[in-house]
Amino acid sequence: MLNGKKIVLGVSGGIAAYKAVEIVSRLKKAGAVVQVIMTEAATQFVSALTFREMSGNPVAVAMWSEIKHWNVEHIALAKWADLFLIAPATANIIGKIANGIADDTLSTTVMATKAPVIIAPAMNTEMYVNPIVQENISKLAGLGYRFIEPASGMLACGVEGQGRLPEPSAIVEYICQTFAPFTINASIPCDFSDKKFLITAGGTREPIDPVRYIGNHSSGKMGYALAAAAAARGGRVTLISAPTKLSVPEHVSVKYIETAAEMRQAVLAEYPDADIVIKAAAVADYKPKTVQLQKIKKNDDTLTLVLEKNPDILKELGQLKQNQFLVGFAAETESLIQNATDKLNKKNLDMIIANDVTKPGAGFDYDTNTVKILYRDGLKEEFLQMTKIQLAHVILDKIRVKLKK
Ligand code: PMT
Repeated sequence: MLNGKKIVLGVSGGIAAYKAVEIVSRLKKAGAVVQVIMTEAATQFVSALTFREMSGNPVAVAMWSEIKHWNVEHIALAKWADLFLIAPATANIIGKIANGIADDTLSTTVMATKAPVIIAPAMNTEMYVNPIVQENISKLAGLGYRFIEPASGMLACGVEGQGRLPEPSAIVEYICQTFAPFTINASIPCDFSDKKFLITAGGTREPIDPVRYIGNHSSGKMGYALAAAAAARGGRVTLISAPTKLSVPEHVSVKYIETAAEMRQAVLAEYPDADIVIKAAAVADYKPKTVQLQKIKKNDDTLTLVLEKNPDILKELGQLKQNQFLVGFAAETESLIQNATDKLNKKNLDMIIANDVTKPGAGFDYDTNTVKILYRDGLKEEFLQMTKIQLAHVILDKIRVKLKK
């Protein structure tokens, strides 16, 4: 999976540093070339010699050691990397990167790299949930750094909670997924050539007056990724799109709409012919009861808008369902599983993708998402953070499995 990929592994000073040894071993078995950078603190937990023997390459630790060659080490490794992984990442290294502090080999190299950076935090639960650490993670996620969420369980400090470094196998699987869209394009299975997809994307807009509307933060990235993946796998795809800045993926037929009512009309027209329907759009639940014909003037200190309910398109599709495979999304800020399960049942869906949109790097506008997939038979699957195009392929894989049953 990782043949010839050049991976720099940054190891910072936490007890989980010992797990990084297995990460190196697994990355190498998958075909990657690995170079390790350790912080001084990390060397207190595991020796540099262990990583040198395991990776087959010298290990960079100190900034000021005798120069062996004229490549400035942090620049050379920063340029060399196809991908940069920091595992385990302590609160300290996350804080340094988030605040532009470069005072050792690891922090300077990560600062100088243009490669994608994946960070796997591992620390005590109270440290992990500390608002400063969470703010640093959010800031970095917003800048495009990807995070592998820590697992829950008994921590080395004797406390039960979230903060464990996920198993090395899960981390390496995540790395493989990161490369997958770029390395296996030629071998993407054409496994949906007999299927017609109906996919919705973006956030609907409900006009208030000629210049204003009620909207939401959906960028359309999730729905467009699904459309691109379905078309790449041979499906015939109709995309019903609310306004976005994205360009239409190849071999996808698109219909643009603005309001929930327009989306309903477009979706219902396509529904009878569709085999698989995926509703990734964020549809406004309410719209202004009356749309003002002229721009509203700011005469008063307050303004009251009366809203009325929009039709629930997905619920209607669930009621009309014949042979279609129906997939919904649930964007939640609390009680993720409970709310998603309610939607799965009430809307008569076959599958629902639950995203906790309070998590950094998940939900609206990010290039990545972290989801749980819930099925009609009660099965739940949890996924690490991945790019939306990767997730789109995972969702299609899951649909494929369900359709075969
Ligand atoms: O577009 P991105 O920036 O990439 O962000 C992706 C996303 C966060 C928008 C996407 O992953 C997502 O979660 N989409 C669903 C958001 C949402 O509106 O969820 P909901 O829980 O309100 O709705 C549940 C389901 O019913 C959704 O499939 C929705 O399309 C559908 N629905 C909702 C209301 C309505 N009136 N009609 C509908 O069909």
